[in-house]
Amino acid sequence: MANVVEEIKSRLDIVDVISEYVQLKRAGTSLKALCPFHQEKNPSFFVSPERQIWHCFSCNRGGDVFAFIKEIEGVEFPQALRILAKKAGVEIKAYDRRMVSQNTKILDISRLSAKFYHKVLLESSLAREARKYLKERGLDKKTITEFQLGFAPPGWDTLLKFLLKRGYKEADIEAAGLVIKRTEYPSTQVPKYTYYDRFRNRIIFPISDVHGQVVGFTSRILPGAEDKTAKYINTPETPIYNKSRVLYALDKAKLEARSRDSLILVEGQMDVLALHQKGWKNTVCTSGTALTRDQVAFIPRYTKNVILAFDVDAPGEAAAQRGIDLLLETGLDAKVVRLPEGKDPDECIRKNPKIWEQALKKALPIMDYYFSLAFSARGGSPPEDGHSVLGRKDKELSIEDKKGMVKVLLPVIAKLGDPVEQDLWLKKLASDLSIREASLREALAKVKLPGPLEKRHEVGPARRVSQAQLAGERFLGLALKHPELGQKFLKGMILDMFVTPHLQNLAKAVKKCYFQDKEIKITRIRKDFSPSHYIDYLLFLVEEEFKGYASSALEQELEKLFRLLKKGYLSEKMEKATLNLKKAEEAAEDALVEKYAANIADLSAEMAKLK
Ligand code: CTP
Ligand code: MN
Repeated sequence: MANVVEEIKSRLDIVDVISEYVQLKRAGTSLKALCPFHQEKNPSFFVSPERQIWHCFSCNRGGDVFAFIKEIEGVEFPQALRILAKKAGVEIKAYDRRMVSQNTKILDISRLSAKFYHKVLLESSLAREARKYLKERGLDKKTITEFQLGFAPPGWDTLLKFLLKRGYKEADIEAAGLVIKRTEYPSTQVPKYTYYDRFRNRIIFPISDVHGQVVGFTSRILPGAEDKTAKYINTPETPIYNKSRVLYALDKAKLEARSRDSLILVEGQMDVLALHQKGWKNTVCTSGTALTRDQVAFIPRYTKNVILAFDVDAPGEAAAQRGIDLLLETGLDAKVVRLPEGKDPDECIRKNPKIWEQALKKALPIMDYYFSLAFSARGGSPPEDGHSVLGRKDKELSIEDKKGMVKVLLPVIAKLGDPVEQDLWLKKLASDLSIREASLREALAKVKLPGPLEKRHEVGPARRVSQAQLAGERFLGLALKHPELGQKFLKGMILDMFVTPHLQNLAKAVKKCYFQDKEIKITRIRKDFSPSHYIDYLLFLVEEEFKGYASSALEQELEKLFRLLKKGYLSEKMEKATLNLKKAEEAAEDALVEKYAANIADLSAEMAKLK
């Protein structure tokens, strides 16, 4: 296994892998980005091509390319191995048997089922009606193949039998969400199988994750059967399918979203298919649900510009339901396309692609859109298509109207993630309504955002580091990075100068190495200390922070840090001794009093030497 891991690492550049998820920018020798694992405004996520590691200085996650995939895909090691092996073109078949966790089995089952359904759609006489229907809906062969659309035959166990024959177990097929276990036997009509196919007599849309691995399915009823079951039936939550994490077609849209620098969001699978077919390959859908934080978190990796092509309601509760507030918080630029009444993008583009293109051209930035909605709701005249209402003062508005608009729009402004944006919109609102900006600002401060701010950092607490810890990290980092400079300080280094167990253990390993080998050897220290990722992190920290420092400046820095650490250590001892002295005096223990007094004198002498 170790060999496969090394093989994969040697073939992949961490920069390429991470770039698929995050927009990296050069920052000296390394690259930086907004951390994908928590929300932030300033980049604290760094990737070091030299070391092939990544680290976020804000949420303190980091590691190698495997750690990244595990974190970002929310998978365990075997699955990360699979994903990376695929990218690296490394064969891992030989290891399959040993490492097939249930997840990999479910992935196999899903991939195979998609293939099965697809073949049925293309070739089976049972799918004649389905083929006809898709044709009527304007989908061509190319789109059907590209999206691997399929058909689930009407039988109760067609897929089940197929998968059993292939050697898969019922329990795993059930875990994949493809069959349902029957728990009761109420009548004679019930078929005699314990498990039966979830999808029957339906058009199948395989759902892929961002890498194009099939993780689940959604299925549409055929016309004529409408009243019997739901129009769409989906894979339930499974170990590999979490509907709030997946955006349908993102695997196919991601590159196009990057090159066009925009992502179109629609509501349904049919909309996605129609738009892709007409060349709008930067389209994804949420499968009819509201956007989630996890879905939104994926978007900035590809683009800042999101175009919403579904019914967007007035701000307030409805907006929250749609998840638009998440886009605003994340600082994405969201625009709204308004389609002719009652039309979805699918119908629109099929009827006349020009209508779609025009609507797209006239898409309104979401804030303008909200402003215009608020104005028109209050009897102000609705805006010209494609033009902001802002700047046009509506003298007709009554005081009540203005109050109502402030009430609706202020919470939206409060949600804006970018303080500059917030400021601009506040100014606009003030001027549009002829209200003093200061009053609005006061009101804004009182607007309560739903949910505490911390909730937004679901992924993990931000790194809170004391001065003392930071000084220790910098000191040891520099000593490891520049052993020839660091060595000078090792004699006077005391383990208690370091305030965390990690730092103390590392200091111990450094000291041990130095006293045995008479020099700091990082390879040796790595063997003596775990987690070794922490060493990479420290090296990385100082590389970033002390980039371009001359060796004399580094030495000064080490000196300063050393003094700071020593001072911290001495003051703590001093505090303890002072406390002890006080106790001894109270207890009239003369011998102890003398001892602690001497102790304090020594400590202050040492302290004085530091200055
Ligand atoms: N949806 C769902 N379950 C339902 C209805 C809808 O999961 N019972 C999801 C599907 O992913 C669907 C999307 O919501 O693609 C949009 O639903 P709808 O607007 O009803 O479907 P359309 O895309 O308009 O489908 P069609 O044009 O085929 O009627
Ligand atoms: Mn439709």
